[in-house]
Amino acid sequence: MEQLTQFTSMEELKEVCLQCNRCALRGGAKQVVFGRGNPNAEIMFVGEAPGKQEDEMGQPFVGAAGNLLDKIFVAAGIDREEVFVTNVAKCRPPGNRFPQADEVAACRPYLEAQIRLVNPLIIVCLGALATKTLINPQARITRIRGQWFEKNGRKILPTYHPAALLRDPAKKRPVWEDFQELMRVYRDMTTK
Ligand code: URA
Repeated sequence: MEQLTQFTSMEELKEVCLQCNRCALRGGAKQVVFGRGNPNAEIMFVGEAPGKQEDEMGQPFVGAAGNLLDKIFVAAGIDREEVFVTNVAKCRPPGNRFPQADEVAACRPYLEAQIRLVNPLIIVCLGALATKTLINPQARITRIRGQWFEKNGRKILPTYHPAALLRDPAKKRPVWEDFQELMRVYRDMTTK
């Protein structure tokens, strides 16, 4: 996989990412949605791809799923400005379809560079695409959500995507449990 190792700051990486034309998604999107938050965050959240509102505003998770994610953050005691939030695909797929493998592959170096630069203690995968991309292409979110994985010395926790909770409220409880587990392990790692 190509690596964008030459970037030493998030701002530099963002500048290049905003000019990206590596796959067909860019042609149908209004803008690239790079990600947002603390570039030195200890917890990073990775979603799927921008939706309509995100495409319009240039920010991740600002639509209905984002509103729910904000509520979960507040309930869990997470300050959105303290964490880093991004997506596997940085451009909105037409009609919000699932990003295709070649699009994910084209965008992946940006995600990998973001992870390298933020250097978080914990990555939370929001939904199936982030889980397959960052943990294992064969992974099934329904089977492995709430379980900890470790890659390159980083803890990774998969949970359901907030949009899935909007479709199926029965997923709210497991996600709430996953966030409590997240905060328990985070506090454990950061309180001496
Ligand atoms: N869904 C995502 O996966 N990401 C967003 O930014 C918005 C909705």
